[in-house]
Order: sequence, then structure tokens, then C-alpha cells
Amino acid sequence: MYVLALVTQKGGSGKSTLSAGLAVAAMQRGERVALIEADAQGTISKWKERRAGSYPRVDCVADPAEIEPVISRLHAEGVWLAIIDTAATNNALATRAIASADLCLIPARPSPADIEAAIPTLIAIRRINRRFAFILNQTPTRGCRLSEAATSLNSLGVLALPFIGQRNDHQDALGAGLGVTEFAPEGKAAEEIVALWDWISERLIVESNDHGQAALKTAC
Ligand SMILES: Nc1ncnc2c1ncn2[C@@H]1O[C@H](COP(=O)(O)OP(=O)(O)O)[C@@H](O)[C@H]1O
Ligand SMILES: [Mg+2]
Repeated sequence: MYVLALVTQKGGSGKSTLSAGLAVAAMQRGERVALIEADAQGTISKWKERRAGSYPRVDCVADPAEIEPVISRLHAEGVWLAIIDTAATNNALATRAIASADLCLIPARPSPADIEAAIPTLIAIRRINRRFAFILNQTPTRGCRLSEAATSLNSLGVLALPFIGQRNDHQDALGAGLGVTEFAPEGKAAEEIVALWDWISERLIVESNDHGQAALKTAC
């Protein structure tokens, strides 16, 4: 099983929106997916209450010690991907989520404040040597701030592709209890989320295997 964690202490950067959107996009590719809500704000559980279908399942955790047992249970139940949505703070729950993740995703809006706010999260990720990628979210359709933001994030680490535009479909999908790929499958927002899932899944599978091979070689 693979674990993704959406992390950054900046609120409103898109952790919950992207968690739900990516979970549904992965599910539509035939994967067994679960969401782990590690945020008392409850955006994901409220989204799930508005949702008609039973998938993806949502598990809520309030205590850092609960994360590992929940992951083990999901693994035993045959879940292929768990996505952890965390709160807008560097609390112990977020730190444990980072430690459990195969890949940490750090969404940031293209503003200096958002990028600066990601630094403590980045330090926490590097301290425990986890893999990570930034996601540039809520990007305007035009303007030079975008390339400045992309350059800043690229200098800090890997930047996922494509950038995710500021589009109403994301907000409407969240409100309707849907993934954006269910809400408006032909829309630009859905197209971007599918492409982002492809980018993430490629890194997750290929690089996790490389990591495993390297660990195996070291052990031998
Ligand atoms: N790409 C996007 N386009 C439009 N609205 C977005 C996008 N990403 C997030 N939002 C909206 O921004 C707000 C904050 O997003 P949210 O996912 O709750 O952030 P976080 O979980 O990081 O606090 C929500 O209203 C959400 O629907
Ligand atoms: Mg949230």
C-alpha cells in the first residue's frame, strides 16, 4: 500500500480539496483508495457525508498514535492507496502523517506568503528524510506571478506537474460531495487533476520501488 500525505501549515492552500480530488481520480483508475482525515476541521468527513457512494472510505484520526494502526488496518483490508489530509499546523499529527508517507505533497498558492509558510513543513519533511513534491495550486490563468512562484518552489525541491488552476469546479465538487472528475469530467479542472494523479502515481510506484531496491541492496 502507498501513503500520500497532504501537508503544509498554511490554511486554504488546497490540502483537503486536492485530497478528495486525487482520491476520486485514483479510484476512477480502478484503485482501492482510502482517505485518512487528520484534521479536526473535518472538511473530508463533511464532504463524505454529502457523498452518495460508500467509496472512498474515510477514517478519522485525532491522535498521532492512531495513524500507524489505521494504515496497517487499511493495508490488511487490501487498500492500495491511503491519502492523509492534515491540518494547517505543524502539529504532532501532521508530523506523524509525514513520517508515515511514501510521498508528501505540499500544496502552495502562487504567493510569497504561501511559499514562505511551506518552509517549516519542508524542514520537518527533510529532517526525517521523506520524499516530497510541491503542488502549485489555485494558479491564475495568466500573469507573471506564476513563473516567479514556480521558480521559487523549483529551487526548494520537486514541483509536481501540471499546476492546478483556480477553477470553480473544485469548490462546487467539494460542496456536492464529489471529486472534480465526477463533478465535471470534461472540464479543465478534471483534466488537470487526472494529469496530476498520473504524475504522482508514476513517482509513487517507480521511486518507491527504486527506494526498496536500494534498501534491499544496502541490507545485502
Ligand atoms: N484549484 C482550486 N480552484 C478553486 N478553488 C480551490 C482550489 N483549491 C482549493 N480551492 C478552494 O480554496 C478553499 C481552501 O481549500 P482547502 O482545500 O480547504 O484548503 P486547506 O485544506 O489547505 O485548508 C476551499 O474553498 C477550496 O474549495
Ligand atoms: Mg483542509
